[in-house]
Amino acid sequence: MKKVIILGSSGSIGLQTADICLQLKDKISVVGLSVRSKTEVLKKQIKTFKPKAICLEESADNFSNFKNWIKINSPKTKLFFGAVGLEKLVSSVEADTLVAAIVGAAALKPIIAAIKTKKNIALANKEIVVMAGAEIMKLAAENGVSILPVDSEHSAVFQCSRGEDKKQIKNIILTASGGPFYKYDGDFSKITADKALKHPTWKMGRKITIDSATLMNKGLEAIEASVLFGLPIDRIKIVIHPQSIIHSLVEYVDGAALAQLSNPDMRLPIQYALTYPRRMPSKFIKPLNLAALSKLEFFEPDFKKFPCLKLAYSAANAGGAQPAILNAANETAVEAFLDGRILFTDIAKIVEKTMKLFKGIKKTGIDSLIEADLAARKKAHSLIESAESNLK
Ligand SMILES: NC(=O)c1ccc[n+]([C@@H]2O[C@H](COP(=O)([O-])OP(=O)(O)OC[C@H]3O[C@@H](n4cnc5c(N)ncnc54)[C@H](OP(=O)(O)O)[C@@H]3O)[C@@H](O)[C@H]2O)c1
Repeated sequence: MKKVIILGSSGSIGLQTADICLQLKDKISVVGLSVRSKTEVLKKQIKTFKPKAICLEESADNFSNFKNWIKINSPKTKLFFGAVGLEKLVSSVEADTLVAAIVGAAALKPIIAAIKTKKNIALANKEIVVMAGAEIMKLAAENGVSILPVDSEHSAVFQCSRGEDKKQIKNIILTASGGPFYKYDGDFSKITADKALKHPTWKMGRKITIDSATLMNKGLEAIEASVLFGLPIDRIKIVIHPQSIIHSLVEYVDGAALAQLSNPDMRLPIQYALTYPRRMPSKFIKPLNLAALSKLEFFEPDFKKFPCLKLAYSAANAGGAQPAILNAANETAVEAFLDGRILFTDIAKIVEKTMKLFKGIKKTGIDSLIEADLAARKKAHSLIESAESNLK
């Protein structure tokens, strides 16, 4: 039995991970769960999996009702709460793998705690790799744990480079659906959160859906690929592929390019990270019918129309704390956009201005990067306030 902790079990990735763990219940046992506030989802998962420990925010609605509920319905389950609770849950529960499906930088400390207690990481959360990728990879190597990618593109690259000599990789080519606005020719400043939340191929959490609409998601993924596969950022290429059938490619020095194809469903890469190095049958994945696919299209990405993509490459080229600053400013700006406080086009402007204000800060090391992240969030908040007052 493989013991698994799922952090962010009520989210898009978390729920799909739970589906897989249930399908493979004779092979996987879920020993820990966390949500931020969705107590009803958590109650159902506790009944299904009977975990040893769980964690949620103390500020969650009905927190005191929930405490009573757990005493009656699952008295052996240990309850942790808050950011510190997440670290305690991860460190104290014995497990083989941590599924990191929390959104944003909040996942950093629990992931570090998991690595230090020798758990492999099935990594969905890309923000922490952007923020502190080199430090996390170093820590994982020191503790002898594996970082197994869950993002579909990185899983594709992982699958296409298995058993190959990594020195023979020429380029990694990440595919991108292009999001809802790839062909949009209207005024980007008029794009509302409702429109931006309608992704053409993937059903995901709110933050990543907005990142997909600005193409920041692909920029974050390019940085993630550079860190996970040890290639300089200029060898991570992007191609728009609206059908999302090819999930990414690895191009080798002899001109061969290996690709991984499947119908778009995150349960495939999640399952692969959980069962690696084995493959298991899945009732969720619709088999690919190549003859029924009318066409597979590919386009160059438009860096002018999607400035966030360019900003991510600049941050990676600058190195030091710039990727952490890019990520912190983006998380802050996306939240403000979702709250209706700023325009769609303000997201890139706020990220760019924050990056400029912190240019040249060459911080490395987890503590310094956390410091840079907090300072960048503070600055982004004040830029958001000015953007807001311009809108009034
Ligand atoms: N969704 C996808 O298809 C997909 C694909 C590739 C990569 N990813 C990456 O996977 C991560 C999760 O994405 P998602 O789409 O699953 O997000 P999501 O649907 O928004 O779910 C986020 C999960 O994390 C919890 N959470 C949010 N903020 C938290 C905090 N500050 N502290 C503790 N828990 C917190 C949420 O709890 P509540 O529900 O209680 O708020 C929820 O369980 C992201 O980093 C994303 O980039 C997602």
